[in-house]
Amino acid sequence: MAILKIARMGHPVLLETAVPVDDPLAPDIQRLLADMTETLQDAGGVGLAAPQVYQPRRLFIWHLPAARAENGVAVPLSVVFNPEITPLSEARELGWEGCLSIPGLRAAVPRYRAIRLTGLDARGAPFAAELSGFAARIVQHETDHLNGILYPMRMSDFRYFGFNEETERHNQPLPEIV
Ligand code: NI
Repeated sequence: MAILKIARMGHPVLLETAVPVDDPLAPDIQRLLADMTETLQDAGGVGLAAPQVYQPRRLFIWHLPAARAENGVAVPLSVVFNPEITPLSEARELGWEGCLSIPGLRAAVPRYRAIRLTGLDARGAPFAAELSGFAARIVQHETDHLNGILYPMRMSDFRYFGFNEETERHNQPLPEIV
């Protein structure tokens, strides 16, 4: 295993459309997955998509610590190959998010409140899940990475964009999306 370098905003690999993973169990994909896992554990984020480590392939890993889950239930580290997202309603909300490719900054980004996620799981088997709140936000953010989209490209109000230390200290309340 290895800790991989993470591409930062401005590198063109982050703007590519990633290609589907044909065989999730192929040795090169399994090695990439192991390295991404070690990289995420080292970097300390909640998600990492393959293009962020210079591999434009359609997979990401994510997890949700209990302390950050609205219902207090942790989601263990999971991999999703070839994800597809369907919003469960048009309802969206603003929430804070950051990105390992945009270190030190965070912003309020509009995302669907609830989604259906389909894809292939760690064994390469099809699965479907319904997610809401921060879990849905993470998965929308990571799937965007596979389509060359970074969170500033989703922002609706640049007043809620700043350095982590400043935005956390001042903790501006976020408006409802109407
Ligand atoms: Ni990101």
